[in-house]
Parts: sequence; structure tokens; C-alpha cells
Amino acid sequence: MMRSFRQSRARSFVLGVTFAVCAIALPACKKSTQSAADQNGPGKSRLVVGFSQIGAESSWRTAETNSIRSEADSRGIELKFSDAQGKQENQVKAITAFIAQKVDAIILAPKVETGWEPSLKAARAAGIPVILVDRGVQVADDTLYATLIASDFVAEGRMAAEWLAKKLEGKGNIVELQGTPGSAPAIDRKKGFEQGIAAYEGLKITRSQTGEFARQTGKEVMEAFLKSAPGEIDAVYAHNDDMALGAIQAIEEAGLRPGTDIIVVSIDGVRDAFDAMVAGKLNCTVECNPLLGPLAFDAVEKAVAGETLPKWTVVEDRVYDQSVAAEVIDSRKY
Ligand code: AHR
Repeated sequence: MMRSFRQSRARSFVLGVTFAVCAIALPACKKSTQSAADQNGPGKSRLVVGFSQIGAESSWRTAETNSIRSEADSRGIELKFSDAQGKQENQVKAITAFIAQKVDAIILAPKVETGWEPSLKAARAAGIPVILVDRGVQVADDTLYATLIASDFVAEGRMAAEWLAKKLEGKGNIVELQGTPGSAPAIDRKKGFEQGIAAYEGLKITRSQTGEFARQTGKEVMEAFLKSAPGEIDAVYAHNDDMALGAIQAIEEAGLRPGTDIIVVSIDGVRDAFDAMVAGKLNCTVECNPLLGPLAFDAVEKAVAGETLPKWTVVEDRVYDQSVAAEVIDSRKY
């Protein structure tokens, strides 16, 4: 973090010198050396932030996008939003564009954990802090990003496992719907769940496949599971609510009762999951809070001011099951 502080001071110094030179002799060079915030006009210091979002694969993702957009609005920050349509290469392009536009900071929700070093190095070379939201990355040098604001996905997987182990009294066949391959939540929620059931010899993951965090894919994978192991599935563990909701449809279409014949547990805590719990079709969801806008922009403002940030701000989550769903549903914010 000292390095990024030094970089931002160095950047200010360079901008100061450039400004002096331009003011005296070269008015035409002004635009190419200004940061995006400076271009808002004299005396205006409106921050300009680029946000590279993965896409809109789930209702959780939409809630996160809305939170970041509305927080930028309420702080008077100009947000340059880029939807990568589920492709990492589009996120890489967006970061390159943000750097060219001389934004003051970049918020990145990285699709997968690997492949970010060249982009992060380019941002650092330009003196632009990168704030990671929602998902982490694997890099040799963690000073390449300013901070990560995210839930503890391993803990979420463990909480789901503990709840399910109790419900199944330590015995049963579980099928798993994994999230996007290579993404932090898919890797960590699998790991945490496996840790959580390890103490129960009678609990087995009999099938496990990606449903890409999407409702339709979750449904299709669950249909295949039901066909390949009729009568042998006691529970579904889905890495997110959308896939669980798709699985619920598949279970119903197979003539079974989700929530009763097959126990369903998932992660996110979106509104539709609470509706499904109230209807008795989903048994439990572990919250993963997507309302990251306020924390993200607190971090942006501090990073731009050269402050040192914690490497990871853990967003606290909790477990909700059918026993509390009706009571809390109206207080849910996403
Ligand atoms: O990274 C968070 C995960 O991504 C959410 O659980 C899921 O719904 C989303 O697509």
C-alpha cells in the first residue's frame, strides 16, 4: 500500500509539473494529460470511476450492479460502467479503456481468479488504484490491487454444509450445482462445503457439475441428475439461489416435491429465494450480501486520497431457513 501511496503522490507531482508547463506554453496539450476528474472543469473535483462488471447471470449480480450505480449517484461520482457479458476478455478490454480514459479508480468484479496480472500492472503503472469487489484474484503480488471487499465464500459453503448435515441427520446423497468454473465463489463454496460435511461419514456428494450460476443451466443440470439417479437424491446444494430455483423447477417437473422429497440449500439470500422458502420449496439459503456500493466507494475515496486499506474487508453473512423466512422476508433489501 505504501507503494500505491507513493505512486499517487508521484502522479500528483507529474500532473502538477505538466499543468505548469501547459499553462505557460502549451494549452493544446491540456486534454491529453488531464485525469478524467480534472476534465469536469475548473474547480470541480468530481471523481470518475470505471466499474467492470461480469454480466447479469443472476439476480444477485443485478443487485450488486444497482448498489454500485446508486451509490455512485448519491456521492456525485461519475461512473463508467462496463458489462462484460460473462467474458473475462471483455473485462480486460474495459480495464484498458478505463486506463486510457484516465479514470481516478477502477472497481473490478473479476469473473475468475486468474489472468489479471497484466491488467493490474497496467493500472498500477498509470497510478490508478483497483478496488476488487465480490470476488478475489490470484496474483503473486497483492499490492497490485488496493483492497478486496467480499464475503468469505469458504465460510458460506461451511455454513450450508452444517445446516444440511443437521437437517439430514448426517446421512444422505447430495448433488452439487457448482458456480462458474475458476471463479472464487465456485472454488471456495465447494471447498467450504466439503470441509463442512467431512465429519459425517454418511453424507456423500454423489454428483457435482457446473450450472454457471444461472437459473436455466441449473435446471438443465438438475434434470440430468434426476434422470441419471432416479430416487437416489436426498438433497441439492447449489452455489447460488438462481441455480437452486432452476433445480426446484426440475424437481417439480419430475413429479417430486422440492423442500420435502429433496432438500434444497443454496447461497445468496435473494428475494426469490425467500419467496421459495415461504412456499416451502427451498429449505435454506446462506446470505451473501451484494449491496457493496457503500463499502466500494468508501474504499475508492480512501485509495484516491492515498490511504492504506485492509487487504480484505470481509462482508458478514448469516444463515436463513424456512423457520424464519416469513418473518424476515419484508425486511430484505435485495
Ligand atoms: O460472486 C458472487 C456470486 O456470483 C453470487 O453468489 C452469484 O449469484 C453470482 O453470480
